Amino acid sequence: MPQEYRPRRSCLAVPGSSQRFLGKARGLAADEVLLDLEDAVAPAAKETARRNVIAALNTGGWGGKLVAVRVNDAASRWAYRDVVEVVTDAGRGLDAIVLPKVTDPGHVVWLDLLLGQIEQDTGDQSGRIGIEAQIEDARGLAKVDEIAAASPRLRALVFGPADFMASIGMASQRVGAQPAGYLGADAFHYPLLRILVAARGHWLAAIDGPYLAVGDLDGLREAAVSAAALGYDGKWVLHPGQIGVVNEAFSPSQEDYERAELVLDAYRYYTSAEHRGAVMLGDEMIDEASRKLALVAAAKGRAAGLRRSQRFEPPAPGGSAEDSPRGEGLGEPAGQG
Ligand code: GLV
Ligand code: MG
Repeated sequence: MPQEYRPRRSCLAVPGSSQRFLGKARGLAADEVLLDLEDAVAPAAKETARRNVIAALNTGGWGGKLVAVRVNDAASRWAYRDVVEVVTDAGRGLDAIVLPKVTDPGHVVWLDLLLGQIEQDTGDQSGRIGIEAQIEDARGLAKVDEIAAASPRLRALVFGPADFMASIGMASQRVGAQPAGYLGADAFHYPLLRILVAARGHWLAAIDGPYLAVGDLDGLREAAVSAAALGYDGKWVLHPGQIGVVNEAFSPSQEDYERAELVLDAYRYYTSAEHRGAVMLGDEMIDEASRKLALVAAAKGRAAGLRRSQRFEPPAPGGSAEDSPRGEGLGEPAGQG
C-alpha cells in the first residue's frame, strides 16, 4: 500500500560516538536524522555510541524530523544488541532502523522479526518502527527486488556509494562524485535506477547516498539535482553545510508545484463534473497519467512547505473552458470528442 508521503530530502548522518554532534543535529534543517552506530563509529566505541544514541533518543526534541538509527549490519557481532537495546530502551523515540549492507532479503526478515518480538515485549504498536535498507554492494543490488519485497516495515531503499564503489572496484576515491576517466555519462546511473525501480515497485522512498567532499557544494548540488531529476526523494548529508543545497535540490520549484496542484484540481473537476478523461490545461493535454505525475510533485511540494498562490477556477456555467477566469485555456484536446 502507498504510505503517507514523508519528506526525506536531506537525511543527516550523525556519528553516535559524538555527544557534540548528536546535540547539534537537533537544531538543523534536515528532514531526517540518522544516528549512526555503524561505519562512523570505531569498533572500540560501539558500546558507548549505543548508550549515547539511546540517551539522545530519550531526550527527544527533534522538531518533527524523522528519527532513525543506523545499526551495524546483520552479519556483524553488534547488530542484535544494537537493535534490542536501542528499541527496548528508546523505541518510542524512533521512526526507523537503517539496516546497512543488506545483501539478502533474509537480513530484512531477521530485523522485521526481531522488531516484532521487541514490540510485543514492550507493548509498542506492532509494525510502527520502519526499516530503511541500504543497498551498497553487488550482491545487494542483484537482489534488490527481493529485498524491497521482504517486509511491510520497509520505508526506503538507500544507495550506499562508498561501499558500492569498493564492492564493484570503481577506480575512484571520490565518493558520490563521477570517477575520472569514465566515458559513460553517469557511473551511478545503473545502481541508482535499479534501486529506484525496485523501491517504486513496492511504494518505497528512494534515497541517494552521501557525497563525501563536504566542502565541494557545487559537486554536491550536481549530484543531488541529478538524483532528484531521476526521481529520488532525497540524499544523505554528512555535514550541516550540505543540508540547504540538498533540501533545495529535492524540492520542486514553486512553478512546478503550482502547476501540479492546478493539474490535480482541473483533472478532478473535469473527470467528476464533466466526465471527461482528457482535457487541455494551457497548451498541454492532461489525463490520468498527468494526474499521477502531478500527485508526486504536489506531495513533494507540500512536504517541502511550499504554498500555492493560484487556484483552479472552473469555467462559468455555459461558458467554454477558454473563458476560464484564469485564462488557462482549459478546453477539449485536439482530436478528442
Ligand atoms: C554509505 O553507507 C556508503 O557506503 O556510501
Ligand atoms: Mg556504507
